[in-house]
Amino acid sequence: MNGSLVVVDDVAAAFAQLVVDRTAASKAPFSLAFSGGSTARECYEHLAHEAESPIDWTRIDAWWGDERCVSLEDADSNYRLVEESLLSKVGPLASVHPMRSDVSDAADLYDRLVRSAPPIDLIHLGLGPDGHTASLFPGSEALNAPLHRFVVSNVDPLGHNRHARLTFTFAGIANCRSAVVTVAGASKTEALHRVLDGDLSAPAAHLANEDLIWLVDTEAMGSRSAR
Ligand code: 6PG
Repeated sequence: MNGSLVVVDDVAAAFAQLVVDRTAASKAPFSLAFSGGSTARECYEHLAHEAESPIDWTRIDAWWGDERCVSLEDADSNYRLVEESLLSKVGPLASVHPMRSDVSDAADLYDRLVRSAPPIDLIHLGLGPDGHTASLFPGSEALNAPLHRFVVSNVDPLGHNRHARLTFTFAGIANCRSAVVTVAGASKTEALHRVLDGDLSAPAAHLANEDLIWLVDTEAMGSRSAR
């Protein structure tokens, strides 16, 4: 497995604390790329209520690591998930860069935008039961995206994950200063164990970043829980 494994009781709380610590440690504007999914929603709801050590959100630039090709208002949009669970509760940010799919060449556009900006400070990723992360699905084209592309469009060839997608590539994730993968619950144990074993048929096992952190709860660790 690439990166460092941190086993915790409460992944959402650990994620929120990590964001508080990282944003507090950097004096410059801080860029954060958001994820989709239920675990991410819990993480953002927890972050929104970080009363003890509030984040100065006017210093934060918001990006997305992947998105479903639906309108930003759609219930399945990752933009809407973050808007509802966090952005609507923390007041204005320095900048917000949703992954819009209702424009032509959406992936090219976001790719250029990301590559024209300083590297993202922290990208947040999840793990699907099929071993996917961001919208990098098993057997999908984006797994073999050219190294110069940080964002591409993608679909799940097996149809397990709905909607066409825009997603960061492995190269785009590696270009970020840090990456955190949050994994919670027994439904992820099989996929997590494949990653722990370096089973490269799980896309998440290909993740690489100079500062890659796996925040995993004991339920997801299952029989391998070190705690
Ligand atoms: C998406 C996500 C995806 C998600 C995982 C985990 O848009 O679906 O970015 O990669 O993080 O599927 O989702 P859950 O936390 O809901 O299991």
